[in-house]
Formats: sequence, C-alpha cells, structure tokens
Amino acid sequence: MIIRDVEFIISAVKPDQYPITTMPEVAMAGRSNVGKSSLINKLLNRRSVARVSATPGKTQQINYFLINNDFHLVDLPGYGFAKVPVDVKRQWGKMVETYLSRRENLRLVMLLIDIRHAPSKEDVEMYQYLAHYNRPHAILVTKADKISRGQYPKHLKIIKETLKILPNTPIIITSSETALGRDEVWDLVEKHLIP
Ligand code: GTP
Ligand code: MG
Repeated sequence: MIIRDVEFIISAVKPDQYPITTMPEVAMAGRSNVGKSSLINKLLNRRSVARVSATPGKTQQINYFLINNDFHLVDLPGYGFAKVPVDVKRQWGKMVETYLSRRENLRLVMLLIDIRHAPSKEDVEMYQYLAHYNRPHAILVTKADKISRGQYPKHLKIIKETLKILPNTPIIITSSETALGRDEVWDLVEKHLIP
C-alpha cells in the first residue's frame, strides 16, 4: 500500500456522526494502551495523526481517517482501563459495540493483543464477539520489540490458546517501533478492501 494522502475526518460518538458514505473501512480494536493509535501512525507513516499516550484511555471516540481518498481507517477507544469510572466505561463499550454491530461499511476488524500478556477476559469476549457476528477479523500482536524473537513462539502459543483462536483467523506480529509486520498488515487490508 502506498500512502499518498491521509486526512482526519471526524471523532464520532454516535452512528449519525459516522461519515455518510459507502466507502469501505477497517477498524482497530483492543484494550487501552495495547497500541492501536501507535500502529495506525506507523501504518500511515505519520508521526501523530492518531494521538498516542503512555496513559491508557487516550482515544475516547471513534476516530475516522480517510486514506488515499479510498477507504477509512478507524481508531476505536480501548476497553479494560480500570481507572475509568464505571458509567464512562459502559458508555465506551456501548459506543464500540454499536459501531461493530451496525456499521455496514466495516470490512475488517483488527483486534490488537499485547505480545507480552495473556489476553484478558475482555479480549476473549471481543474475539468471540467478532467470530459470532461473522465480522471479518484478524489478530495483530503488538509491541513485539518488547521481547526477544526467541520468545515469540511461547507468547504466541499463550495468546492462541487463551483466545481459542480458530485456524482461519490471520495473526500478524507487529511493532510500531520497528515497523515489523507493516507490509503484512497492508496486504491483509488490501485483500479485504477489494469488493
Ligand atoms: P487507547 O487510546 O488508550 O485505547 O490506547 P492505544 O491502544 O491507542 O495505545 P497507544 O497507541 O496510545 O500506545 C500506548 C503506549 O504504548 C504508548 O506509550 C506507546 O508509545 C506504546 N507503544 C505502542 N505501540 C508500541 C510498540 O510497538 N512498541 C513499543 N515499545 N511501545 C509501543
Ligand atoms: Mg488510542
């Protein structure tokens, strides 16, 4: 994928704020701090189109980016951030669920999982949700630079077992530090953008 043009479109909260278009879109989901916004920047070769923070809970709305005037890349708020008040958490959960269940343009959901940690209960629920609703999805394992290559198999095994990953779910190891997996992610995205 050659990134010719990136445009921030909108931070949406409700469906009537989603862009009115039939353009395909690809979304990034995963727990707070897993690296969704960082990976978007890396994929787009931009330093900070998507805002990143060391503090979880940075992305609080559904952020739409228009790529090459061709498709939308969507940065979702994360889940599982303990410090967020319960009612806010519920609101974010509802926002993401509404988006995932209703958005017809959605062609691929990339579920991000930190390579260092076993998937949480919420990660498992998200994975099952995507499988159950037949949403095309893939697992992107993030922050691979944080462990040595020799450790990958051990960590991948835990991730696959905890998620009970199905054999047809693509899984790509990535790093926003080193750009590991970037080409593979774009190949996958391209495959899903073709109608
Ligand atoms: P929310 O917006 O809260 O849902 O988080 P997010 O999933 O968008 O995470 P974000 O991209 O803001 O990154 C969280 C933290 O992890 C930041 O401090 C990033 O610099 C760091 N980070 C993200 N990706 C990587 C990576 O591949 N390698 C390393 N070493 N750090 C990363
Ligand atoms: Mg974010």
